[in-house]
Amino acid sequence: MRKIILAGNWKMNMLNRNLEQFFSELETSIDGGIANASERIEMILAVPATLMEKAVKVGEKCKVQISSQNIHWEKTGAFTGEISAEMIMETGVETTLIGHSERRQYFGETDKTVASKVSASLDAGLKIIACVGESQKERESGITEQVVGRQLTAILKAGASKTENVVIAYEPVWAIGTGLAATSEQAQEVHKFIRSEIEKEWGKEKAEATRILYGGSMKPENTKELLSQKDIDGGLIGGASLKPDSYGKMISIGSSSL
Ligand code: PGA
Repeated sequence: MRKIILAGNWKMNMLNRNLEQFFSELETSIDGGIANASERIEMILAVPATLMEKAVKVGEKCKVQISSQNIHWEKTGAFTGEISAEMIMETGVETTLIGHSERRQYFGETDKTVASKVSASLDAGLKIIACVGESQKERESGITEQVVGRQLTAILKAGASKTENVVIAYEPVWAIGTGLAATSEQAQEVHKFIRSEIEKEWGKEKAEATRILYGGSMKPENTKELLSQKDIDGGLIGGASLKPDSYGKMISIGSSSL
């Protein structure tokens, strides 16, 4: 059975001075307590680099794992503004997001750089949540599977050596930050396609074991419905993960829906 992951993506939000308050409010907002929830679901928060070290310490008490939002594929060198796997791991962080659509859209990430980041992360021992998703225009043109399939192939080929450390996040770009979540049927359809592509690349057993998260305006109101779908194994949550009571509610729903 695949353990549900509810991963928050804080993007460029939050300050160190607000971390303690966030986690204490989160603890009180989870039905049955956070320790109980952590046995049923994995909680991860992808935080800005400036927060990682402190968030690891504060998060540990609540059994929340901390993730980076990005990584560079080289180990060291003249790459101003970038951080390597080793630098991330030195803070105690064990996971990184890769290829979020905002990175692809605003920072020129391509399937090729995403693949390099996947290899570098897995080689260094980091777990990854690698993101794929189509734009509104691509969906309307009927090429969702083509686009998602292309992005996915780059990730799956680069990740073949350590499949157990790879999580895929399907995030339709048109649903991110818009309030317009995909319906559970729309999401399930793409998740099923993703699992079939994983099977082609890695085989049935690994495809069955790989977690596929949905992202894009996921919130307490649609959590139960999305998580009830056969191929949806959790969520990558932006806006709603910044509010401890919303994120806590989603965790309560996730851990009671099993
Ligand atoms: P959202 O963001 O939940 O605010 O739509 C999701 C994401 O970008 O990961």
